[in-house]
Amino acid sequence: MIELLDDFEDARFMAKCQQGVEEILAEELHQLGARDIKTGNRAVFFSCDRKTLYRLHISLRTAQKIIYPLIEATIDQPKQLYELVKSFSWDQVMKVHHTFKIDSVVNSSLYKHTLYPALLMKDAICDYFREKNGKRPDIDKDNPKLILYLGIRKNKVFIGIDTTGELLHRRKYRVFGGQAPIKEDLAAALILKTGWRGECDFVDLFCGSGTFLIEAAMIASRRSPNISRSNFAFMQWNNYDERIMKQVIREAEEEVIQPKIKITGCDINPKAIEGAKRNIIKSGMISWISLKNTSFEQIKKTSNNGVIVSNLPYEVRLKSVSTKDLYKLLGFHLKKEFSDWDAWLLTADKKSSEFLKLKPQNTYEFFNGKIKVYFSHYPIMSFN
Ligand SMILES: C[S@@+](CC[C@H](N)C(=O)[O-])C[C@H]1O[C@@H](n2cnc3c(N)ncnc32)[C@H](O)[C@@H]1O
Repeated sequence: MIELLDDFEDARFMAKCQQGVEEILAEELHQLGARDIKTGNRAVFFSCDRKTLYRLHISLRTAQKIIYPLIEATIDQPKQLYELVKSFSWDQVMKVHHTFKIDSVVNSSLYKHTLYPALLMKDAICDYFREKNGKRPDIDKDNPKLILYLGIRKNKVFIGIDTTGELLHRRKYRVFGGQAPIKEDLAAALILKTGWRGECDFVDLFCGSGTFLIEAAMIASRRSPNISRSNFAFMQWNNYDERIMKQVIREAEEEVIQPKIKITGCDINPKAIEGAKRNIIKSGMISWISLKNTSFEQIKKTSNNGVIVSNLPYEVRLKSVSTKDLYKLLGFHLKKEFSDWDAWLLTADKKSSEFLKLKPQNTYEFFNGKIKVYFSHYPIMSFN
């Protein structure tokens, strides 16, 4: 099965990510040994050998999944999808006795029902085999041999083999969600964007469920975020090489170091702190992180220089006076207590710096789910 992937020499893969994360993911791919890297929209294309593909799955922090592209086309009629899929040589990819499932992401006015294109695709694959062999492959939603990805955006169709299965950002440590938690892949991307790799102290003044703290601890200790996972889609393929996977895990384990820095989080809400503690314990990062149930005003810098990364409360989008006051107090507190540190603050309002009374050196745009967010860098100068 997957003859196409028996020889990795010419294989091109696509790693999917959140909008704005492409360059950060490209750098991660480069560091982990991928080659011929090219960024796209919410995606990065690359080539790699089998061992690197396995390594990417356990170690990438900012990717959501990796796909091996099969078909890219433009359609203008809904049913054209059926012909497009049926004309592909599916026996290069699977045999009639192999089970499969289709995961689809459809964002197109061509289809009223978002599940319909996946049904068309399934029928086309089954008809392809039925006409050739008199038999059709079965669907298995729980444990298929092959997961196919169907993406339709406007009239562009993208079909590929999902090498990953469950999304990579579901790291399994989040037993508590809390208020507006940030996804693990975006949290890691934002920390990597700051340039911090664990060389100085790290503080999150609004830590909520602790996502920044956990991702920071994993970055500082060089821990691969999915090292314990044993259900990647490629493990079902006939050409899966368990010996290579074991070697990849061993090598990743050997890279782990004990960070010598302090990682501190605080939140005013006792439930958030309780939940963050549960998440941190589950992640295995408890030795590196200290938590405080207090308002940010009680937190002072833990060394001469360090980095603050925080997702500020912004649900009310600065409409309420209390949130404006909170931003004003925060700006004042940073200048008073965190001179020579670098603060990186995530907000949903471009105007936040007016209320903080701090001038950002740079502001970068990202998407937290569907919300556009602004990640601003404030180097904190001494008070006078
Ligand atoms: C947007 S959430 C942070 C979400 C977090 N990044 C996560 O992934 O779960 C903002 C947090 O700020 C906390 N908060 C609000 N006012 C605060 C204050 N004065 N000091 C510290 N934390 C505060 C809230 O309890 C909430 O958990």
